Amino acid sequence: MKTLEIIGGQPLNGTVRIAGAKNSAVALIPAAILAEEKVTICNVPEITDTDALCEILEYLGVKVQRASESLVLDAENLINKEIPCSLSKKLRASYYFMGALLGKYKKVEMCFPGGCSIGSRPINLHLKGFESLGAKVTQDGDRYLVEASELKGANIYLDFASVGATINIMLAAVKAKGTTVIDNAAKEPEIVNVATFLNNMGAKITGAGTSTIKIRGVEHLTGCFHEVIPDRIEAGTYLIFGALCGNYLKIDNIIPEHLEALISKLDEIGVDLDIGQDYIVVSQAEKYRHVSLKTQTYPGFATDLQQPFMVLLTQCEGKSAVEETIYENRFMQVPYLNKMGASITTKDRKATVVGKTPLKGCTVKATDLRAGAALVAAGLIAKGKTTIKNVEHILRGYEQIVEKLTNVGAKIEIKEID
Ligand code: EPU
Repeated sequence: MKTLEIIGGQPLNGTVRIAGAKNSAVALIPAAILAEEKVTICNVPEITDTDALCEILEYLGVKVQRASESLVLDAENLINKEIPCSLSKKLRASYYFMGALLGKYKKVEMCFPGGCSIGSRPINLHLKGFESLGAKVTQDGDRYLVEASELKGANIYLDFASVGATINIMLAAVKAKGTTVIDNAAKEPEIVNVATFLNNMGAKITGAGTSTIKIRGVEHLTGCFHEVIPDRIEAGTYLIFGALCGNYLKIDNIIPEHLEALISKLDEIGVDLDIGQDYIVVSQAEKYRHVSLKTQTYPGFATDLQQPFMVLLTQCEGKSAVEETIYENRFMQVPYLNKMGASITTKDRKATVVGKTPLKGCTVKATDLRAGAALVAAGLIAKGKTTIKNVEHILRGYEQIVEKLTNVGAKIEIKEID
């Protein structure tokens, strides 16, 4: 087991280069099997979630070549066999193999995906979409068989603008006969990135980034070269670190427009930002004001940033209010932040943070990826040593977090313990 040890109180100065977006890369990698030729994806983050997807690709017989930030994938010899639970349970995004294999072979057999325990996270909207395209879904416990004699374009309305369901339906519909229209589609930048990838292969997708996506089915998809967009959640996390203890911390290789909701909240509490075309420089201010925030689908405030942002709220004067509308169980950082000295109460999906409270280092546990990021944020400003257990969660989504933070002045170490 690995732990992270942080000695708090060091100012962060220098440049952090943001990696490719996890939530884009984890869809692009399974999507690549739709191509009939080699596909090159660059700016792929080196995180354990992308490693786990490459393991599934290799299990299916796909040739995977990794050269620093690029992945070259060749699915010519893919065998469409059942993906075992031991592989699909490693991460949430294994569900994109459902759409991709169904779209290519009209059949997929696999287990329910894994991922962070932040709520019930059903996949009913994905399955409803596949059924609308003509597939039959058979469930046996955690195992799913989804197959179709023919996939036909359909009009699909999503009850909720789900990121996963929108992408999975695009993958399944891209080679279907006729036109598919997804209404109330999710609008996240990662969806645009996946649609662009498919279009680079020869798909005909319009409207990605709006709530209506149109997919005209094509027969063949070719190889292509594609780049993963910068990770807005990693960027947002480092912006929060900078607001907490930055002394001219530059967050580089980003698309600031993807961070508007966070930037607006940072501005509201009194953080000074210098926003460039592909970077933001952030420094800690002396005093912060309390705010209210509500997580929403894009372009609203990202649920993935709610947990680390809460640490910043502990340093704001007065009573801040947080409402989590996307997941029913995304406050698992709270008991640990309180153990470190915060004053946070929760009721259902609402939290109240009373600040400003000093934080002190102690032993805490990362219950999920972004709760882990919140604990790193807390550790960076806490007095003394913070030890974070279950670091595996953090490494699923933050590339080289120890190296990146060390380079800008943090005292952070990863340790292997029995
Ligand atoms: N939902 C359903 N039925 C479905 C699908 C979703 O009820 O069939 C519900 C979920 O239970 C949840 C809400 O809809 O309450 C949002 O789910 P969505 O499908 O949008 O999320 P996701 O695809 O499971 C992705 C990211 C998450 C991120 C959300 C929201 C990946 C692999 N995961 O999850 O990322 O929080 O979108 O933006 O792309 C993370 O990076 O830490 C993370 C959890």
